[in-house]
Amino acid sequence: MNKKGRVLVTGAAGYIGSHTMVELINAGYSVVGVDNFSNSSPQMIKGVEEITSTKVPFIEADCSSKEDFARIFEAYPDIEAAIHFAAFKAVGESVLQPIRYFENNIRSLLYLTELMTSKGKRANIVFSSSCTVYGEPDPENLPISEEAPVKPATSPYGRTKQMCEEILRDCVRAYPELKVTALRYFNPIGAHPSALIGEMPNGVPQNLVPFITQTAAGIRSELKIFGNDYDTPDGTCIRDYIYVCDLAKAHVSAVDRMLYCEECPKYDIFNLGTGRGLSVLELVNTFMEATGVDLPFSYAPRREGDIVKVWAKPDKANSILKWSADTPVDQVLKYAWNWEKRIREIE
Ligand code: UFG
Repeated sequence: MNKKGRVLVTGAAGYIGSHTMVELINAGYSVVGVDNFSNSSPQMIKGVEEITSTKVPFIEADCSSKEDFARIFEAYPDIEAAIHFAAFKAVGESVLQPIRYFENNIRSLLYLTELMTSKGKRANIVFSSSCTVYGEPDPENLPISEEAPVKPATSPYGRTKQMCEEILRDCVRAYPELKVTALRYFNPIGAHPSALIGEMPNGVPQNLVPFITQTAAGIRSELKIFGNDYDTPDGTCIRDYIYVCDLAKAHVSAVDRMLYCEECPKYDIFNLGTGRGLSVLELVNTFMEATGVDLPFSYAPRREGDIVKVWAKPDKANSILKWSADTPVDQVLKYAWNWEKRIREIE
């Protein structure tokens, strides 16, 4: 097969990065992955290789070190686009270690932009952003479109996403060769159908689905649902849970568009969600129905900083990227459970 151009994927061994590597390879792109394994494992790259039956070009390097990062561009001068996942992403940790978060997340973005634009060639960057930039949406703004106001960030993690978007916007104005697509993810969940790659949190999972699957696997005694007195139909928070493989495919569409659409805007933003909100309780019940596992859970006080309800208006991505997130959530939760079972060696 004739290969499309080469795409650099930073954070390639991470949760969304590894799934995106698979989709890029399946779509015919050449890739090169980079990761320093600070919060990921080489096992994910092996998983990508097994799924795609290819040897994946990969360099272990730290994107927040300019010298380290530059090695990749020397080894692969044919990079046409980059998808930038590499970043610290724990909200609570970012509150305790803001400097570490700014240093890592901002530096790597600056170096990437500099390295991409220093060759005098066309440079395309897809930036991994988050719906966290919208904060707690006003009810009249639900579902959230790209026009909804960006609110002051409630954590240094969220602020790095906002700052990186702004930095890229300025860089696009300054460097004619640069195009950027910022993708604002809602809540990515699930794992590849092969169960060879998936989410692998360090320590106690902070996110709902890995906590659910670890509880189902007997690693945690019960799930605590944070708050059942919110202003929602069942009192629990509402989110837009998007399948990680669907999300990964949106990155391929974004790269396609930047590489092959001449008249497209130089800076663009897309919300990536399903367009459907699901409560924590609905998600827990769907998990039990889909997997047949009886999940122990109880209600606990609200978690500080949680948004009550947020879900996407994905119309722009649907029409312009010709993409939609269609995998049913019960199927997604089965995949998440299959992954947990495989890594815990549960039959
Ligand atoms: N939840 C529980 N119990 C848990 C874990 C989570 O009840 O053990 C609830 C939360 O209170 C929330 C929902 O499940 O209502 C989803 O929580 P997650 O932590 O999975 O996801 P968040 O929506 O809080 O955070 C996600 C990303 C962040 C990003 C944020 C943007 O993980 O990186 O969306 O809103 F910043």
